[in-house]
Amino acid sequence: MDFSELVLTRRTVHNYSPDPVPDALVEEALRLSLWAPNHKMSWPWVYTWIGAESRTRLADLAVELKSAGGELPDVKRKAVRDNVLGPAHLISLGFKRTLGKSVGTLLSMAAGSNLKFDEHREHEDFATLASSVQIMSLFLWQHGVASKWSTGAWGVNPRTYSVLELNPDEVRLEGVLMIGKALNMPTAPERPELSQFLRRG
Ligand SMILES: Cc1cc2nc3c(=O)[nH]c(=O)nc-3n(C[C@H](O)[C@H](O)[C@H](O)COP(=O)(O)O)c2cc1C
Repeated sequence: MDFSELVLTRRTVHNYSPDPVPDALVEEALRLSLWAPNHKMSWPWVYTWIGAESRTRLADLAVELKSAGGELPDVKRKAVRDNVLGPAHLISLGFKRTLGKSVGTLLSMAAGSNLKFDEHREHEDFATLASSVQIMSLFLWQHGVASKWSTGAWGVNPRTYSVLELNPDEVRLEGVLMIGKALNMPTAPERPELSQFLRRG
């Protein structure tokens, strides 16, 4: 596949087959993702390859969060669990938090109030993470493996941090990359014309 075809045919996939995906392929996708542009070389990534036990706990959490408005019917419970348990691999996506350096920040920290983070730095680190996710998704797709960046509540909830043993003062979670063979390929959502977004000044 040439590059344009790769970009045009990659889809966010929602349903995964039980076919395995080799660990080595996922590892290579993760390794390549570190070549995303990274301003100030802050190396912000916090990837967690979610193991079987954590995955079960996250599936339970997903059901619990979805049941907040009332008990779910069995079919719906199963669908919510399958969404978490279905893909061959789940990679939690996060970046390292950076404290603000202003005098006000340091004073408020000294006073014991909530930590203040460096918004500009974190904006740029999120950009690096997003670039990294696209590198992974395209690489995987080149090898016939589908993915989805999910920001579903079960991947970013305060309890997700404790399941993954992460400290929210040190790491910010931005969702989960689901990886697996597609059970079915969604049709491509229409993209608007470039002229709607491009100005010439
Ligand atoms: C930051 C981010 C978060 C996303 N979160 C979700 C999600 O929680 N659930 C989902 O179904 N798709 C999610 N997506 C995928 C988009 O919905 C998807 O890219 C869009 O529908 C276009 O489809 P395509 O990727 O097949 O072109 C997310 C994408 C991004 C960039």
